Amino acid sequence: MHYYRTHHCGELCKKDIGKRVILSGWIQKIRNLGSLIFIDLRDFFGIIQLIFSKKFIKKIELRKEFVIKISGEVVKRKSINQKIPTGEIEVLVSKLEILNSSIPLPFLIEDQTDGDEENRMKYRYLDIRRNPIKNNLILRHNISLEIRNFLSKKEFLEIETPVLINQTPEGARSFVVPSRIHSGMFYALPQSPQLFKQLLMIGGIDKYFQIAKCFRDEDARSDRQIEFTQIDCEMAFVDVHDILIFFENFIQHLFKKIKNIELESFTYISYSDSMDLYGTDSPDLRFGMKFVKLNDWAQKKGIEFLKKKELTIGINVQKCSHYTCNQIYSIIEGIREPKINPEEIFWIKFFTDKTIISSKELLSHENLIQLIKRFKAKPGDLLFIIFGKKRKTRTKLSKLRIEMAHHLNLKNPQVFKPVWITDLPLLEWDEESKRYKSFHHPFTSPIKEDIHLLNKKNPGYIRSKSYELIINGMEIGGGSIRVHDKKIQDAIFKHLGFSIKNIESEFGFLTKAFEYGAPPHGGIAFGLDRLIAILEGKENIKDFIAFPKNNSGIDTMVNTPYFLKKEKLKELRL
Ligand code: AMO
Repeated sequence: MHYYRTHHCGELCKKDIGKRVILSGWIQKIRNLGSLIFIDLRDFFGIIQLIFSKKFIKKIELRKEFVIKISGEVVKRKSINQKIPTGEIEVLVSKLEILNSSIPLPFLIEDQTDGDEENRMKYRYLDIRRNPIKNNLILRHNISLEIRNFLSKKEFLEIETPVLINQTPEGARSFVVPSRIHSGMFYALPQSPQLFKQLLMIGGIDKYFQIAKCFRDEDARSDRQIEFTQIDCEMAFVDVHDILIFFENFIQHLFKKIKNIELESFTYISYSDSMDLYGTDSPDLRFGMKFVKLNDWAQKKGIEFLKKKELTIGINVQKCSHYTCNQIYSIIEGIREPKINPEEIFWIKFFTDKTIISSKELLSHENLIQLIKRFKAKPGDLLFIIFGKKRKTRTKLSKLRIEMAHHLNLKNPQVFKPVWITDLPLLEWDEESKRYKSFHHPFTSPIKEDIHLLNKKNPGYIRSKSYELIINGMEIGGGSIRVHDKKIQDAIFKHLGFSIKNIESEFGFLTKAFEYGAPPHGGIAFGLDRLIAILEGKENIKDFIAFPKNNSGIDTMVNTPYFLKKEKLKELRL
């Protein structure tokens, strides 16, 4: 017989009445009724009520989270607890052993805890004892298992790639690790296994996947950690369509298997349409409020304060004409990065009695009626119109759209709206460094029709064979068909500002490999942490990672990062 337990706490039920059992676990709750003590005993599998008769009461001193082992008999409960699966029975304890004690706890180990995030991170091992976090880790395990099963059945090979590598330009900064043996030299931690998965394709592997740890030295936030996990995939002899079809099916399968949710067919929107209609490449399609462009209208009507603006756009927020100006001001003021100046926005209220009021007095009644028509507004609707420089104006309206959705409770976590964003630009101009940067990464192929533009001066218009999967406004995955031709790869590197010498020294191994019969290939990587969070209708990925870092990149439990001792620095010659 096992020493610590014959059963788990959560598995006993009515049919076990009369059995003698041994159980071990933590004390969740103690109720002392004087003549009797009731204790809820918890282990990984559930909770059971223990009942201690009088003879124990004098000699024991127990507190929450003590670890105990008991022997006793399963008996029928007098008052049934419908809330827990073991609620019809309890264990009458005849023997008790205290396996370990616990000092007073920093927060309640209960589903609804009083612990704030900082404390929960510091004592993460206590947080994991709580059901919400434990269940998230179980969910993560189940998803990972399903991912492996699904992809293995489709002939994907799970292959580990190295973690101590060279720096690759993936958009973020890399973490580096000093080499002790090679003085002054460093390894970089992978931002993703990108180049290795491509080399695997060149190595003749047909389909690869890896549940891979990635490291990016960037500012953390609710959907971003410096250390996170990707479901990284690559396939040989595929084009964009093959990838999108296959992985739509993959995501649909995971939603069905894990949450029994039937996802509708994914929407497809090109990057440029997404920017025009939603002002972002990560649109949340759970709600409408598509942008309406008014440049031509402002021109035609000769609206002085609008006609010279680079962009004039607006949204129709349905059934909100009752919002007071104060309410509207406070919503607008709440939007940051970029802030909306009151001079660059106005609104029109189309009241239910069909009267129209504009916050901008310069517009005639006839113009207001035309705008109402243009937005297809109904009585009761509220229009926002914003104008200025193209990029910023779009971003501002996009933020206002999300904010209004938030106010109107339109971000329903039970609803899932997946969308593929396609044809993203190959390069984008970076004002700060005054040079082009890859929109996805440098190994992305241009679309066939735009390849000739690689030789032109302004490569900003080149579209790429890349795609992103957005669900409810969150970027869940991104990938591309890769370049497999040395000449094209060299041309892209040049636009990114690499000299021929640099290309050779940093990526020579890759471009060389292209010369040995590299097959056409492409792939995608999904953020596992984000995927799990979205499945649970959440935005904060921390709760789905066993030991996350806080928003400053610190693990307050183990106190990392840390200062190296002088001797160690000396050893590393740093
Ligand atoms: P990308 O950089 O788009 O592509 O990353 C793929 C997906 O990884 C997730 N992700 C993150 N999740 C949490 N914290 C982060 N800091 C973080 N950064 C990214 C996102 C994102 O969509 N090598 C390419 C993939 C490819 O081309 O195949 C890559 O890494 O969900």
